[in-house]
Amino acid sequence: MHMEFPTLKIGLAGFGNVGAGVFKNIEKNRSLLRERTGKDLQITRIVVRDPSKPRSVTLPEGIVSTNLDDIINDADVDLVVELIGGIDRAFDFVKSALEAGKIVVTGNKALLAERGQELFAIANQHNRPIFYEAAVAGGIPIIKTVQESLVGNHIQSVFGIINGTCNYILTRMTEAGLDYPEALEEAKQLGYAEADPTLDINGWDAAHKAIILASLSYGCWVPADEVHVEGIESIRSEDIHFAETLGYRIKLLGIIQLHEESGAMEVRVQPSLVAKDHILSSVKGAFNAIMVKGDVVGETLFYGSGAGQDPTSSSVIGDIADAVARIDREQGSGFITHELYGKLIPVAETVSKYYIRLQVDDHPGVLGEIATILGKHDVGILSVIQPEDHEESHAPIVLMLHYAEFGRVQEALAEIRQKDAVQGEPVVIRVEDLS
Ligand code: HSE
Repeated sequence: MHMEFPTLKIGLAGFGNVGAGVFKNIEKNRSLLRERTGKDLQITRIVVRDPSKPRSVTLPEGIVSTNLDDIINDADVDLVVELIGGIDRAFDFVKSALEAGKIVVTGNKALLAERGQELFAIANQHNRPIFYEAAVAGGIPIIKTVQESLVGNHIQSVFGIINGTCNYILTRMTEAGLDYPEALEEAKQLGYAEADPTLDINGWDAAHKAIILASLSYGCWVPADEVHVEGIESIRSEDIHFAETLGYRIKLLGIIQLHEESGAMEVRVQPSLVAKDHILSSVKGAFNAIMVKGDVVGETLFYGSGAGQDPTSSSVIGDIADAVARIDREQGSGFITHELYGKLIPVAETVSKYYIRLQVDDHPGVLGEIATILGKHDVGILSVIQPEDHEESHAPIVLMLHYAEFGRVQEALAEIRQKDAVQGEPVVIRVEDLS
């Protein structure tokens, strides 16, 4: 017997890599989705900037336009999927959709990290939710995990490899001995890095995801301009090599943790030395992994594809199915506020061990001068490496420093940098024990 299913009409804004994947995969799994959601998911409008652009998935006929208002003004569209990227145009579109009573699904991390607070207030006002699983870590269902499965926990920490491009570059530098420009070029060729990979390699793509995770974990909005963000641009093959010698791998990490005594949170993105035997060290290539620690559940780990057409569209489709389940209910904004800690720890006060690489003139007394400056700033030295096979007049010095506040290390390095014997910029990588 043929069963009739009620239709859910969807307006899709953006038909790039992920948008095309959503269309393709809803078609592919149409009957499965019907059975599971009880609705026939129909994309009835698609808006793109340029319909004539060649695409890997052919645009369907008769439902494509270039005006976002065509989705907003269509009273039959119950749900909009925003995959246009960018901030201001996407903000106006999502705001108008919520005001028109539509549910929103978005994969736009920059939009939520920069303007989420405003958008969720609008969502609350109109009692329409925003779903955003695809905004963080592609196909890994980390948003629903923190929001729903771990709802009974105080989140103590979230440590994540949340940028596939950087993880790919660092993996290739480690395993194939490529230097940074070569590894970056490879990441571009493979489609991991964008044509303009700036936000990937300067750490901001990871920072947007960390801001969303921190905001969700602690129930308040983390101001993007107070988050310390460093990318991987300054990491060189020597650093990979020295880290390896010392028993570490270099990873770009998003670090979010609650400091229980002060009730404040630490949120930062920095390249970090991670012990080779730590599980995050074994996350290779373009994969992502996120460790979440809760006071009830303990330690958990989520691993998978953090980018790409199919994994990310899987998260968007999951959100659409979630929306179906809630469509006829009173629902709030989709952002759970709770204890509103709202206080961020300045990065200068955060503590770790450090790897420092300096390039110096090789003459007697230089190491002594550096050690004296570190001592003056109350920063202890754990170990020193100076390879013998360096050029006659120039030498790299690698120092492993004891636990110290980042601010003190920066002050000491500012002084060290002034010394005539020190050439170029010191490389500083934090050592994270992730406990
Ligand atoms: N470009 C991102 C990455 C995926 O490399 O992880 C989208 O955020």
